[in-house]
Amino acid sequence: MQTSIEEILATYNDRAPLAEASTIPAPWYVDSRIAELERFNVFGKTWQLVARTDQLEKAGEFVTTTVAGEPIVVVRGNDHVLRAFYNVCRHHAAAVMTRPCGQASLLRCPYHGWNYGLDGSLKGMPEFDGVQNFDRAQNGLVPVRVETWECFVFVNLDDNAAPLPEFLGGLVKRIAPLGIGKLHYFDRRVFNIRCNWKVFVDNYLDGGYHVPHLHKGLNSVLDYKQYTIENEDRYCLQSSPMVVSDEDAATGATRKGDRAWYFWQYPNLMINCYEGYMDTNFVTPVDADHCTVIFDFYFGNVGEARREYNEQSVDVGNRVQEEDLGICEDVQRGLKSRAYGAGRLSVRREAGEQLFHRLLAADLRRGLALSSAAAENY
Ligand code: FES
Ligand SMILES: [Fe+2]
Repeated sequence: MQTSIEEILATYNDRAPLAEASTIPAPWYVDSRIAELERFNVFGKTWQLVARTDQLEKAGEFVTTTVAGEPIVVVRGNDHVLRAFYNVCRHHAAAVMTRPCGQASLLRCPYHGWNYGLDGSLKGMPEFDGVQNFDRAQNGLVPVRVETWECFVFVNLDDNAAPLPEFLGGLVKRIAPLGIGKLHYFDRRVFNIRCNWKVFVDNYLDGGYHVPHLHKGLNSVLDYKQYTIENEDRYCLQSSPMVVSDEDAATGATRKGDRAWYFWQYPNLMINCYEGYMDTNFVTPVDADHCTVIFDFYFGNVGEARREYNEQSVDVGNRVQEEDLGICEDVQRGLKSRAYGAGRLSVRREAGEQLFHRLLAADLRRGLALSSAAAENY
């Protein structure tokens, strides 16, 4: 008989102190029912990164994306207000905006030509004369909450969720001294990985544990023994003093400064900073066994004279990512093995993973309890 979802959730002990703790168990990473529970209760209820503010500066600039399986469009209005909507036409449900980003004066559906203002209001419906009991005002695009922080635009599908600053908590203050607002977007890389999205996050949150083994280049510029791990609210900051090294020339040239700063914000956003450098990693599930990670690279100077240097820096990031990718796919295979149930955590290194697993367990258990209660009342 198939194990119930309640039983699978019950197998993780979130109260164990770190020295006694285990990871969330293997079924959490491979069971499609967990993936579905996450879609509603994690990705459908948390603030999700959808765009950069520089993509949405002028009236009519828009970005389309998918959040928790829902098509979303974010657009700057003529009144300069930033708005987000479900990108679903009120006529027969086609996607209204189909390009990933651009600028438009009207949001026009490609199917039958219905068009909406930048504020989402329904403006025109071709060949719709004679239709009775149709209230145009009730048929605008359905709005979604949108807020910005630094250069990032977030949406939240949950009307009852706390505002973005509350969700980010202490992260806002912790990251402020780094001045990331002075950096400029340079380039993007997208990776499709054959692993659960949580395998990618776990790999990120192991407190540098894997760095000396897997990332020899990166390891050459970090003072690994001094690596620190701070858990607070919904974020974990992993940080390391840096050392000057020519062991790996490209890494030494492009990863500089006093410290390396690696921020993770629950559930799926990572922000990595060195001097004059930031990259963000945004991981989203495709299904239980696959995820997509978007890497965006930012630099203090993105002028033509710095192009070659910046490209070299992106290549260094890519190399680290390639090293992580292979191991993440191996882990996903191992999680399906009958030989594996759950793993223990290093007290010195893996406190961030425990924070992640605890936050996730709380969201999934709350979500399951709500859906069970709703089913009983039905
Ligand atoms: S579905 Fe958009 S106009 Fe018909
Ligand atoms: Fe790594």
